[in-house]
Amino acid sequence: MDLQTQMKKAVADAAISEVKSDMILGLGSGSTAALMIKSLANEIHSGKLQNIRGVATSFQSEVLALELNIPLIDLSSVSQIDLAIDGADEVDPKFQLIKGGGACHVREKLVAYKANQLLIVVDETKLVQSLNKSFPLPVEVLPNAWKQVQEVILEMNGTSSLRMANKKAGPVVTDQGNLILDVLFNDGIKNPKEIEMGINNIPGVLENGLFVDITDKVLVGKIENNNPVVYSPSKVS
Ligand code: 5RP
Repeated sequence: MDLQTQMKKAVADAAISEVKSDMILGLGSGSTAALMIKSLANEIHSGKLQNIRGVATSFQSEVLALELNIPLIDLSSVSQIDLAIDGADEVDPKFQLIKGGGACHVREKLVAYKANQLLIVVDETKLVQSLNKSFPLPVEVLPNAWKQVQEVILEMNGTSSLRMANKKAGPVVTDQGNLILDVLFNDGIKNPKEIEMGINNIPGVLENGLFVDITDKVLVGKIENNNPVVYSPSKVS
């Protein structure tokens, strides 16, 4: 296992140690969340965790949970989720996030907002001092609006590109059937709440990957003396 996967596996396992029987769990998306879902399945099938129900944040997490026989319930049929566990692409010292590297941020945000607690699991390469200096902000747009949205983002000093698919000609199509613009602002994002709201106000935008003032706890995996270790940084206020 490469070093980054070792860090991801360590945080994924640490996150599952925070899960208790009878919980409704938000199941995040991405490679770290997938390791967390596998670890959850092990605990369920060994009998350590009972009566767990998962709410998927994407087709990816839904398919994986089904393959691993984790009971699922639909987002619309739950009034609240006890704990959502998800990965992130960037985490700043105030626990503001960029998500959506896997184009799943719409459902991830819906699940996060319904959760009593949002636990973010990352390896230490995801920690940044300031958001959007290098990782572009994913913005989900209606298919026939992407050009128009791109022009408005340009007026906001952001350059964007339409995310293209691998192993399929043309753009990435999201779980909702929309497209993704990846946006870099000239000076990065210093005011995440303002940018989150400003982008969502553009006609044709469904949702963007800024998760602001919603993360309760972050678990970080790093390598120390050739071994993966996990720590939980304090949020800077
Ligand atoms: C998907 C996400 C993922 O959580 C994020 O991209 C991190 O993924 P990974 O754990 O593979 O680095 O937001 O939309």
